[in-house]
Amino acid sequence: MKRLVIFLLLVIIFLTGCGKKENTIVMVTEAGFAPYEYYENGKVIGVDIDIAKEIAKHLGKELIIKDIDFDSIINELNSGKADFALAGMSITEERKKEIDFSIEYSESKQVIVALKDSNIKTVDDLKNKKIVVQLGSVADIFVSSELSEATVIQQKKFLSAAQDVKSGKADCLIMDALPANELVKNNKELSVLSVDLFTDRYAVAVAKGNEELLDEINKVLDKLMENGKIEEYILYHTSR
Ligand code: ARG
Repeated sequence: MKRLVIFLLLVIIFLTGCGKKENTIVMVTEAGFAPYEYYENGKVIGVDIDIAKEIAKHLGKELIIKDIDFDSIINELNSGKADFALAGMSITEERKKEIDFSIEYSESKQVIVALKDSNIKTVDDLKNKKIVVQLGSVADIFVSSELSEATVIQQKKFLSAAQDVKSGKADCLIMDALPANELVKNNKELSVLSVDLFTDRYAVAVAKGNEELLDEINKVLDKLMENGKIEEYILYHTSR
């Protein structure tokens, strides 16, 4: 009798455990990237979170947000620990080999952040410079592949990268335009230089072959773009 009770209890615990999993969807990101994902009062908010909430709503699931290192995101998807990534992640051919991308939801460009009195005026001035980037980002790949004479410093967090520029450990930081604008708002000694490097496009990522989820995500993105919602989210998160 006692054994049966214990057995039934275990079955109940197991089933509720499963039920919970069934009804959640896990998003992975690196939340040091305002306006797309950032902390406010201990909670992650941002453009990507607003989009993720709509995806979860459409699927009828509870959203769980996981904040990890940017360079671990692809692995997190492919090991099944997360269902999708929303991290201002740029579409690249290399990444496409490992994960699947949704339709694009935002355009971006890569810019240079430096001290206000920096002597960097053109792309050519980047030669021989010490450049800090976020580890695994498109800027990281760009510096390593296109600027062979430059020294690359890889940081996991943009805050540490900004610190490197402020302290003179790095001459500049290469990163996405909108997050760069947000970063200089809080670091008055830094500015975004008016040298554009290249443009890129953001998409949601899922594990390779997860077409079912990707189709639903694309439906949500289509609708959000049609209704001007993404612009609205960007406006909201850049004007505060
Ligand atoms: N767009 C760049 C890339 O895909 C940087 C993205 C960084 N995102 C973040 N949440 N930290 O490489």
